[in-house]
Amino acid sequence: MAEFRVLALGDVCGDCGIDFVCSRLPELRRELSIDFCVVNGENSSMLGITPSQADTLFSHGANVVTLGNHAFARREITSYLEGRQDILRPANISPVNAGFGWGVYDLGRVSVAVIALIGRISMDPAENPFLLAEKLLEEPKIAQCAIKLVELHAEATSEKTAMGYFLDGRVTVVWGTHTHVQTSDARVLPEGTGTVCDIGMCGAQYSVIGSNAEAAVRMFLGHPREKFVAAEGKAKLEGAVITADTASGKCVSIETIRINE
Ligand SMILES: [Fe+2]
Repeated sequence: MAEFRVLALGDVCGDCGIDFVCSRLPELRRELSIDFCVVNGENSSMLGITPSQADTLFSHGANVVTLGNHAFARREITSYLEGRQDILRPANISPVNAGFGWGVYDLGRVSVAVIALIGRISMDPAENPFLLAEKLLEEPKIAQCAIKLVELHAEATSEKTAMGYFLDGRVTVVWGTHTHVQTSDARVLPEGTGTVCDIGMCGAQYSVIGSNAEAAVRMFLGHPREKFVAAEGKAKLEGAVITADTASGKCVSIETIRINE
Protein backbone atom coordinates (compact mmCIF):
# COMPACT_ATOMS: atom_id res chain seq x y z
CA MET A 1 0.00 0.00 0.00
CA ALA A 2 1.36 3.42 -0.93
CA GLU A 3 0.73 5.86 1.85
CA PHE A 4 0.12 9.56 1.61
CA ARG A 5 0.55 11.67 4.72
CA VAL A 6 -1.25 14.92 5.30
CA LEU A 7 -0.73 17.44 8.08
CA ALA A 8 -3.58 19.87 8.70
CA LEU A 9 -2.89 22.75 11.08
CA GLY A 10 -5.62 24.62 12.93
CA ASP A 11 -6.22 28.36 12.75
CA VAL A 12 -2.94 30.24 13.11
CA CYS A 13 -3.48 33.11 15.58
CA GLY A 14 -1.33 36.23 15.42
CA ASP A 15 2.45 36.52 15.42
CA CYS A 16 2.68 34.05 18.29
CA GLY A 17 1.05 31.38 16.11
CA ILE A 18 2.90 32.25 12.91
CA ASP A 19 6.31 32.33 14.61
CA PHE A 20 5.76 28.95 16.31
CA VAL A 21 4.41 27.28 13.17
CA CYS A 22 7.36 28.57 11.15
CA SER A 23 9.85 27.43 13.77
CA ARG A 24 8.43 23.89 13.90
CA LEU A 25 6.80 23.07 10.56
CA PRO A 26 9.88 22.27 8.42
CA GLU A 27 11.16 19.80 11.05
CA LEU A 28 7.68 18.42 11.70
CA ARG A 29 7.22 17.65 8.01
CA ARG A 30 10.41 15.56 8.08
CA GLU A 31 9.71 13.87 11.43
CA LEU A 32 6.16 12.87 10.48
CA SER A 33 6.97 12.08 6.81
CA ILE A 34 4.39 14.61 5.64
CA ASP A 35 3.65 14.75 1.91
CA PHE A 36 1.19 17.64 1.98
CA CYS A 37 0.37 20.34 4.51
CA VAL A 38 -2.74 22.51 4.77
CA VAL A 39 -2.71 25.44 7.20
CA ASN A 40 -5.72 27.53 8.16
CA GLY A 41 -4.33 31.05 8.11
CA GLU A 42 -7.37 33.26 8.45
CA ASN A 43 -6.50 34.44 11.96
CA SER A 44 -2.87 35.26 11.19
CA SER A 45 -3.79 38.91 11.80
CA MET A 46 -6.43 37.68 14.30
CA LEU A 47 -8.99 38.99 11.82
CA GLY A 48 -7.71 38.06 8.37
CA ILE A 49 -4.32 37.49 6.82
CA THR A 50 -1.92 39.74 4.89
CA PRO A 51 -0.06 38.71 1.73
CA SER A 52 3.26 38.69 3.56
CA GLN A 53 1.84 36.44 6.31
CA ALA A 54 0.59 34.03 3.63
CA ASP A 55 4.01 34.10 1.94
CA THR A 56 5.63 33.28 5.28
CA LEU A 57 3.39 30.24 5.80
CA PHE A 58 4.14 29.01 2.27
CA SER A 59 7.88 29.47 2.61
CA HIS A 60 7.90 27.40 5.82
CA GLY A 61 6.07 24.37 4.47
CA ALA A 62 2.38 25.04 3.84
CA ASN A 63 1.23 23.65 0.49
CA VAL A 64 -2.20 25.21 0.84
CA VAL A 65 -3.49 27.99 3.10
CA THR A 66 -7.20 27.95 3.88
CA LEU A 67 -9.37 30.83 5.04
CA GLY A 68 -12.79 31.20 6.64
CA ASN A 69 -15.25 33.82 7.85
CA HIS A 70 -12.47 36.40 8.23
CA ALA A 71 -11.04 35.71 4.77
CA PHE A 72 -11.35 39.30 3.59
CA ALA A 73 -10.92 41.18 6.87
CA ARG A 74 -7.56 42.42 5.58
CA ARG A 75 -8.54 43.99 2.29
CA GLU A 76 -5.03 43.72 0.87
CA ILE A 77 -5.46 39.95 0.56
CA THR A 78 -8.13 40.36 -2.13
CA SER A 79 -5.77 40.94 -5.07
CA TYR A 80 -3.37 38.26 -3.70
CA LEU A 81 -6.13 35.65 -4.07
CA GLU A 82 -6.72 36.40 -7.76
CA GLY A 83 -5.68 33.47 -9.92
CA ARG A 84 -4.15 31.47 -7.06
CA GLN A 85 -5.34 28.03 -6.05
CA ASP A 86 -2.92 27.52 -3.17
CA ILE A 87 -4.83 29.90 -0.89
CA LEU A 88 -8.51 29.08 -0.62
CA ARG A 89 -11.43 31.06 0.70
CA PRO A 90 -14.60 29.04 1.41
CA ALA A 91 -16.16 27.74 -1.80
CA ASN A 92 -19.71 28.44 -0.62
CA ILE A 93 -19.46 32.18 0.06
CA SER A 94 -20.81 34.57 -2.52
CA PRO A 95 -19.10 34.14 -5.90
CA VAL A 96 -18.63 37.90 -6.14
CA ASN A 97 -15.64 37.45 -3.82
CA ALA A 98 -12.12 37.02 -5.15
CA GLY A 99 -10.31 33.71 -5.18
CA PHE A 100 -11.12 30.03 -5.36
CA GLY A 101 -12.73 27.67 -2.87
CA TRP A 102 -11.08 24.53 -4.13
CA GLY A 103 -7.88 23.50 -5.84
CA VAL A 104 -6.24 20.43 -7.34
CA TYR A 105 -2.53 19.74 -6.97
CA ASP A 106 -0.59 17.30 -9.13
CA LEU A 107 2.22 15.88 -7.02
CA GLY A 108 3.40 13.40 -9.66
CA ARG A 109 2.65 10.11 -7.92
CA VAL A 110 -0.74 11.34 -6.76
CA SER A 111 -3.22 14.16 -7.35
CA VAL A 112 -4.76 15.93 -4.40
CA ALA A 113 -7.94 18.00 -4.22
CA VAL A 114 -8.65 20.43 -1.39
CA ILE A 115 -12.14 21.82 -0.87
CA ALA A 116 -12.68 24.65 1.63
CA LEU A 117 -16.22 25.11 2.95
CA ILE A 118 -17.86 27.24 5.61
CA GLY A 119 -20.71 26.26 7.91
CA ARG A 120 -24.06 28.00 8.30
CA ILE A 121 -24.93 27.56 11.98
CA SER A 122 -24.08 30.78 13.90
CA MET A 123 -22.10 31.94 10.87
CA ASP A 124 -22.64 34.55 8.15
CA PRO A 125 -24.99 33.60 5.30
CA ALA A 126 -23.51 31.12 2.84
CA GLU A 127 -24.65 28.62 0.25
CA ASN A 128 -25.49 25.14 1.58
CA PRO A 129 -22.06 23.47 2.06
CA PHE A 130 -23.50 19.95 1.84
CA LEU A 131 -25.13 20.50 -1.54
CA LEU A 132 -22.10 22.32 -2.87
CA ALA A 133 -19.73 19.57 -1.67
CA GLU A 134 -21.82 17.02 -3.55
CA LYS A 135 -21.72 19.14 -6.69
CA LEU A 136 -17.97 19.71 -6.43
CA LEU A 137 -17.29 15.97 -6.20
CA GLU A 138 -18.73 15.69 -9.71
CA GLU A 139 -16.33 18.32 -11.02
CA PRO A 140 -14.00 16.28 -13.31
CA LYS A 141 -10.78 17.84 -12.01
CA ILE A 142 -11.73 16.94 -8.43
CA ALA A 143 -13.22 13.55 -9.33
CA GLN A 144 -9.94 12.37 -10.87
CA CYS A 145 -7.95 13.09 -7.69
CA ALA A 146 -7.14 10.05 -5.56
CA ILE A 147 -6.84 12.15 -2.41
CA LYS A 148 -9.68 14.50 -1.51
CA LEU A 149 -9.34 16.75 1.53
CA VAL A 150 -12.29 18.75 2.86
CA GLU A 151 -12.10 21.49 5.47
CA LEU A 152 -15.34 22.74 7.02
CA HIS A 153 -14.81 26.03 8.85
CA ALA A 154 -17.77 26.02 11.20
CA GLU A 155 -19.02 26.73 14.69
CA ALA A 156 -21.32 23.76 15.31
CA THR A 157 -19.92 20.32 16.09
CA SER A 158 -23.17 18.83 14.75
CA GLU A 159 -22.71 20.43 11.33
CA LYS A 160 -19.10 19.28 11.12
CA THR A 161 -19.92 15.75 12.28
CA ALA A 162 -22.78 15.52 9.79
CA MET A 163 -20.47 16.56 6.93
CA GLY A 164 -18.18 13.66 7.80
CA TYR A 165 -21.03 11.18 7.50
CA PHE A 166 -22.40 12.87 4.39
CA LEU A 167 -19.07 12.48 2.59
CA ASP A 168 -18.09 9.15 4.15
CA GLY A 169 -16.55 6.92 1.48
CA ARG A 170 -16.45 9.77 -1.03
CA VAL A 171 -13.51 11.81 0.26
CA THR A 172 -10.33 11.01 2.18
CA VAL A 173 -10.98 13.25 5.15
CA VAL A 174 -13.25 15.96 6.53
CA TRP A 175 -11.73 18.12 9.26
CA GLY A 176 -13.19 21.09 11.05
CA THR A 177 -11.66 24.44 11.92
CA HIS A 178 -12.88 27.75 13.42
CA THR A 179 -13.62 27.01 17.08
CA HIS A 180 -9.89 26.88 17.89
CA VAL A 181 -10.62 24.17 20.49
CA GLN A 182 -9.35 20.74 19.49
CA THR A 183 -11.90 17.96 19.82
CA SER A 184 -11.12 14.36 20.78
CA ASP A 185 -13.32 12.63 18.21
CA ALA A 186 -10.78 11.89 15.44
CA ARG A 187 -11.75 8.60 13.83
CA VAL A 188 -12.18 6.78 10.54
CA LEU A 189 -15.87 6.42 9.61
CA PRO A 190 -17.30 3.08 8.37
CA GLU A 191 -16.79 3.80 4.66
CA GLY A 192 -13.22 5.04 5.07
CA THR A 193 -13.36 8.80 5.55
CA GLY A 194 -11.29 10.25 8.36
CA THR A 195 -12.97 12.97 10.38
CA VAL A 196 -12.50 15.26 13.35
CA CYS A 197 -14.74 18.12 14.46
CA ASP A 198 -12.02 20.64 15.11
CA ILE A 199 -8.27 20.31 14.76
CA GLY A 200 -7.57 23.22 17.14
CA MET A 201 -5.36 26.29 16.74
CA CYS A 202 -1.77 27.46 16.56
CA GLY A 203 -1.20 30.37 18.91
CA ALA A 204 -0.76 31.35 22.53
CA GLN A 205 -1.31 28.56 25.07
CA TYR A 206 -2.72 31.02 27.60
CA SER A 207 -5.40 32.83 25.63
CA VAL A 208 -9.09 32.78 24.82
CA ILE A 209 -9.05 31.03 21.45
CA GLY A 210 -5.86 32.88 20.55
CA SER A 211 -6.82 36.35 21.75
CA ASN A 212 -5.80 38.22 24.86
CA ALA A 213 -7.61 36.61 27.80
CA GLU A 214 -8.08 39.77 29.88
CA ALA A 215 -9.71 41.59 26.95
CA ALA A 216 -11.97 38.61 26.30
CA VAL A 217 -13.06 38.50 29.93
CA ARG A 218 -13.80 42.25 29.87
CA MET A 219 -16.01 41.69 26.83
CA PHE A 220 -17.95 38.91 28.55
CA LEU A 221 -18.41 41.14 31.60
CA GLY A 222 -20.23 43.56 29.32
CA HIS A 223 -17.59 46.17 28.62
CA PRO A 224 -17.56 47.69 25.11
CA ARG A 225 -16.06 45.35 22.57
CA GLU A 226 -12.34 45.96 22.03
CA LYS A 227 -10.18 45.25 19.00
CA PHE A 228 -9.12 41.59 19.00
CA VAL A 229 -5.51 41.44 20.06
CA ALA A 230 -3.53 38.22 19.75
CA ALA A 231 -2.26 36.86 23.04
CA GLU A 232 1.47 36.46 23.49
CA GLY A 233 3.65 34.11 25.50
CA LYS A 234 4.29 30.41 25.11
CA ALA A 235 2.75 28.99 21.96
CA LYS A 236 1.17 25.73 20.94
CA LEU A 237 0.62 24.05 17.61
CA GLU A 238 -2.44 21.88 17.04
CA GLY A 239 -3.63 19.93 14.05
CA ALA A 240 -4.19 16.47 12.67
CA VAL A 241 -2.07 13.92 10.84
CA ILE A 242 -3.90 11.86 8.26
CA THR A 243 -2.54 8.74 6.58
CA ALA A 244 -4.28 7.79 3.34
CA ASP A 245 -4.00 4.92 0.88
CA THR A 246 -3.23 6.40 -2.54
CA ALA A 247 -4.87 3.50 -4.38
CA SER A 248 -8.27 3.72 -2.70
CA GLY A 249 -8.11 7.34 -1.51
CA LYS A 250 -9.40 6.13 1.85
CA CYS A 251 -8.15 7.22 5.23
CA VAL A 252 -6.04 4.64 7.04
CA SER A 253 -5.62 6.65 10.22
CA ILE A 254 -6.23 10.10 11.64
CA GLU A 255 -4.86 11.49 14.86
CA THR A 256 -4.80 14.92 16.39
CA ILE A 257 -1.51 16.41 17.52
CA ARG A 258 -0.53 19.15 19.97
CA ILE A 259 2.94 20.54 20.50
CA ASN A 260 3.49 22.97 23.35
CA GLU A 261 6.39 25.38 23.29
FE1 LIG B 1 -13.08 31.44 11.69
